[in-house]
Amino acid sequence: MNSFDKGKDRFALTTPLYYVNGLPHIGSAYTTIAADAIARFERLNGKSVLLITGTDEHGQKIQRTAESLGRSPQALCDEIAAGFAALWQKLDIEYDRFIRTTDPRHEAIVKEFFQRVWERGDIYLGQQQGWYCVSCEEFKEERELLEGHRCSIHIKETEWRDEQNYFFRLSHYQTQLAALYQKRPDFIQPERSRNEVLSFVSQGLQDFSISRVNVDWGFPVPVAPNHTLYVWFDALLGYITALLDPDSEPTLENALSKWWPINLHLIGKDILRFHAVYWPAMLMSAGLPLPGRVFGHGFLTKDGQKMGKSLGNTLDPVDLVSRYGADAVRYYFLKEIEFGKDGDFSETRFINILNADLANDLGNLLNRTLKFMVQRYPDRQVPSYSGKDFSADHPLKAIGLDLGEQVKQAYEALAFYQACEAVLGLVRASNKFVDEQAPWTLYKQGKQQAVEQVLYAVLESVRLAAYLLSPIIPNVSSEIYTQLGFATNFNDKTQISTTAPFTTHATWGILSDKQKLGEPRPVFRRIE
Ligand code: MSP
Repeated sequence: MNSFDKGKDRFALTTPLYYVNGLPHIGSAYTTIAADAIARFERLNGKSVLLITGTDEHGQKIQRTAESLGRSPQALCDEIAAGFAALWQKLDIEYDRFIRTTDPRHEAIVKEFFQRVWERGDIYLGQQQGWYCVSCEEFKEERELLEGHRCSIHIKETEWRDEQNYFFRLSHYQTQLAALYQKRPDFIQPERSRNEVLSFVSQGLQDFSISRVNVDWGFPVPVAPNHTLYVWFDALLGYITALLDPDSEPTLENALSKWWPINLHLIGKDILRFHAVYWPAMLMSAGLPLPGRVFGHGFLTKDGQKMGKSLGNTLDPVDLVSRYGADAVRYYFLKEIEFGKDGDFSETRFINILNADLANDLGNLLNRTLKFMVQRYPDRQVPSYSGKDFSADHPLKAIGLDLGEQVKQAYEALAFYQACEAVLGLVRASNKFVDEQAPWTLYKQGKQQAVEQVLYAVLESVRLAAYLLSPIIPNVSSEIYTQLGFATNFNDKTQISTTAPFTTHATWGILSDKQKLGEPRPVFRRIE
């Protein structure tokens, strides 16, 4: 099977591997929330999915954090890595692989990869001079710095370095990289990220150093053990190690056999250069196929400034989840911020959006419809209609029929905002439809058939909305499905795509005749 065929039924995607100098704030968790929503969508879409996340545990930043806490780096990494797993669980992140770069299997992969690049002649010893930002773990060019040689991302002073390092011959790949961006315009998304990379590359690529002599916490450079491998060279390769099956030998061949090339690397825009320039060049040097695309999203800001630990303006995801629930947090960030752009967090806006969209528009629509039914139809069965009984210009069917395809395209383009808005279009039309049709009046007038038609159309619309939003709000969607009499649990990935495949559920009119409905309960409580 060639890599093109592989891409059709498999979908591998990654989040960045997080530094373990603390637990993620909501800004850094944002990448993973988005990645999880995409993974869930692709599972609904019938693909075998591998969502990779993990921790980036080497380097000076971690070494210094451990020193400042009087701890060994390994003990710090173990504790924080466990904290990550717990946080992702709270946010209902269903990853398939969690790679820690301190894993001994990773060292084997790194060594083999290094060897390939070494044999290619792309690594040499040279002198490194420059301004280094420990928070970015990156040398900065003079023109990128703020006054006082401060990093423009962390607003912190960089440090002058002058040492002998091993270098990777990035400059050799200038032409090949330019050809890649031209031949595959989708390789870097969105447009803003692509332009940023094109402009960076057009200024001429410099070789970058891939070893350190003043840092102990990392893998030794295979050809010179007195040097430590640069943390980014090591971390990017974590994406390959993560592909190893748990019981297979850690060789590049085994790691690359099933899931490579990765379809999507999801990252924040601050680490674009590593993923869209250094990483493809490293892969070219090792003679490996390149990933499908790199998407660099925007920053979550507070009062206009990037949220970050060094700036002390972060929000704690655990606190948000414990107050409002995982679905609320996931929904707000994916719906409110156009993915790719920066977005500010405001608690007032957070509360307003959740109340309007989830509590009122969606939750209340189901609740009032079900309550009405239960009171009048004690057997709680779906009225005896099916999608076929409605003409194509029925106000809800007309929207519902196209909605699946529309939302699919939005997810594929990572346009979460558009996916949510399209679904809300159906939800709002359904509320309007109930108000206009007034089934309670029809019921009093003895118009049974008309009442049942209204109920079917509304219940089916709520079902479709819940299905299409399940990658974002899996708990609310599962609860709606339960109340509609299904056994589907959108949090159980082994169930999805066999019991709820996109091709059957993402269309209007599948609620079956006489299905027994559940008890009406609020699916999302209003936030006061
Ligand atoms: N360790 C590297 C990644 C190595 S991948 C081989 C790293 N780690 S990080 O913990 O600093 O950042 C993890 C992710 O969080 C990155 O995608 C970064 O862009 C993202 N964010 C950190 N702060 C952010 C915001 N305020 N807003 C949005 N994303 C932000 O970089």
